Amino acid sequence: MDIQAVLSVLADGEFHSGEELGAKLGVSRAAVWKRLQSLESYGLRVESVRGKGYCLSGGLDLLDADEIGALIQQRLGRQPFAIECVPEIDSTNAELMRRLPAGLPSGTVCAAEWQSAGRGRRGRAWVSPYAGNLYFSVLWRSSGGAAALEGLSLAVGLAVVQALEAMGVDDLGLKWPNDVWQAGRKLGGILLEMQGDATGECQVVIGIGLNVNMPAAAAEHIEQAWTDVSAALGASPKRGLVLAEVLVALDKVLQRFAGGGFAALKSDWLKYDVCRNQLARIETGGQRHIGISRGVNDQGGLLLEIDGRVEAIYGGEVSLRPVSVLGDAPGEPSGEPR
Ligand code: BTN
Repeated sequence: MDIQAVLSVLADGEFHSGEELGAKLGVSRAAVWKRLQSLESYGLRVESVRGKGYCLSGGLDLLDADEIGALIQQRLGRQPFAIECVPEIDSTNAELMRRLPAGLPSGTVCAAEWQSAGRGRRGRAWVSPYAGNLYFSVLWRSSGGAAALEGLSLAVGLAVVQALEAMGVDDLGLKWPNDVWQAGRKLGGILLEMQGDATGECQVVIGIGLNVNMPAAAAEHIEQAWTDVSAALGASPKRGLVLAEVLVALDKVLQRFAGGGFAALKSDWLKYDVCRNQLARIETGGQRHIGISRGVNDQGGLLLEIDGRVEAIYGGEVSLRPVSVLGDAPGEPSGEPR
């Protein structure tokens, strides 16, 4: 038995004796404590009390692929996903990308309790504390070439907010191209990675990171205003339930996208647009554009009004800033875009 087997025992938040854990680990009672301390690399702290044993205070809300699959089956009456839950991985996106050559079917989902090298947009790291938030990737195969995928990342953001809204989360927003916001703070992010033929078969790995229960220690590494689903709801939902809700919503959105592209979803997306009519600065391919954000076009490009003319921008990072800060004035503060 390995450390993961011990984690599934300690997940109940109860005390377990050194004898019981030693037997699971295949080590002596005396060696148990040392092994349990290695859990600190996951950010987990095991409590030890003489006469009672060891405990992970508060327990762990671990993902169960069968449970998640059953919830989806119940909701959709069919199963479009093959779900794998792994204890740890470098990145769920990287994992599906690696396995593409093996002919992985569309609808394969890889969800992890922990990512050692979670990838964010623009080369940033994605903070992935053990069993705290959701980190998962979905493989989607499409046959219409790269053009048919325009706006897909925005569509995925829409699925996430629709799922959360159905769970009772309010004040949700989407910040172009696909950040999920709640009450002005980042709740989740989406990273699409694609491979294939520009005019034919394409494989898209849809990576979603959603803050559900962010431990305070992990949050220290995040450089922008953030929130989590627990704070937004005022209660901690089971992560498996949130994952099932998002996958159900994603299935519906992907079907609509396959039928009509982003154009079919645009009016729904615009309901959540946090940039609309805001002064925005966009960094794209080394260029900076400053103007008033005027929604998105049918391809998912951001419409930016610059000197009375509307231009579509594809790809980039938006900063919403007060007017005085947006200008190119000397001494302009730099740092993470909001
Ligand atoms: C962003 O920067 O906003 C995008 C973050 C995407 C993070 C998710 S977590 C699951 C999947 N695996 C990764 O390595 N990244 C994505």
